[in-house]
Amino acid sequence: MRSDSDDWDITTSVGSTALFVAAARTLAEQDEEPLAVDPLAELFLRAAGGEWALLADPDPELTRDHILRSPDFGTSFRAHIAGRTRYFDDYLRAAREAGIAQVVILAAGLDARVYRLPCLAGAVVYELDRSHVLDFKRETLAEAGIEPLADRREVAVDLRDEWLDVLRDNGFDPGAPTAWLVEGLLIYITPEAQDQLFATLDAASAAGSRAAIEQMTPLPREEYTEMVESEQADDEAKSDWARLIYNDPRSDAAQWFSERGWDAERTGLADYLRAAGRPLPVVEAGAGHVGAPLVNLVTVVRR
Ligand SMILES: C[S@@+](CC[C@H](N)C(=O)[O-])C[C@H]1O[C@@H](n2cnc3c(N)ncnc32)[C@H](O)[C@@H]1O
Repeated sequence: MRSDSDDWDITTSVGSTALFVAAARTLAEQDEEPLAVDPLAELFLRAAGGEWALLADPDPELTRDHILRSPDFGTSFRAHIAGRTRYFDDYLRAAREAGIAQVVILAAGLDARVYRLPCLAGAVVYELDRSHVLDFKRETLAEAGIEPLADRREVAVDLRDEWLDVLRDNGFDPGAPTAWLVEGLLIYITPEAQDQLFATLDAASAAGSRAAIEQMTPLPREEYTEMVESEQADDEAKSDWARLIYNDPRSDAAQWFSERGWDAERTGLADYLRAAGRPLPVVEAGAGHVGAPLVNLVTVVRR
């Protein structure tokens, strides 16, 4: 279970979720005509070693029983991650086309956009996460000799605390329009910490700023409790994950920002994938994956 000031590295607790989504990006790329391509995800898996490295191996037999390869959870989760990666890549391209030169990626984890999206060249990109996660990323990329395409600045913070001053100390200019990115974070912080984070974005955003946010509606309470309490070996990864999240009712991102002078657009992940011609796979009720249909992709623009 979580506590208010818990910490982690890349293979433990919330840190390992960054590797988990990197693994999903790697596996999703093996689809025909993948929605998004992140060649660096594989590098992080190899550097993490053990089972993570096996997921990067071209031989799928080595990880045949891994949850990310399962026909219910795995198929749906890979589609979820591919869809959101594409959505946020397109968001950043549009922000750059609109002339925004300051990008802040909250909970950057192993997000490699600053190394793989040419549109970011010429921008300043701040990557915020816990220090051990940033250390792993920096050391892995340095060892591979991979350079960022933009002016990348690491900011080690706990996003549950006040972090704006630290961002400013690293050169962030609240007077310039910003593109904020909040992907795969909100469920790992409490509803109160989320409101505080939204208030920070609101306070630090000049006119023309925008934010793209992934938000999941809480899982139905019974299903969540079952996941947490499950002692079945097959469900171990799911119950470990369920223990890391805060499955509590919280402010709706689109509504929160639209009440404060931002234009908001919310797209259900399932609708987004359908429109992209890759509908979410239908899984049997109770087959274990309830998350993806509850995910919304939200973009807000400050008037
Ligand atoms: C699921 S990963 C998502 C990483 C990345 N955004 C992506 O989509 O690939 C969650 C990330 O949130 C970070 N995170 C969660 N809570 C945080 C906090 N309180 N402060 C800083 N980072 C946090 C974790 O360290 C981890 O890198």
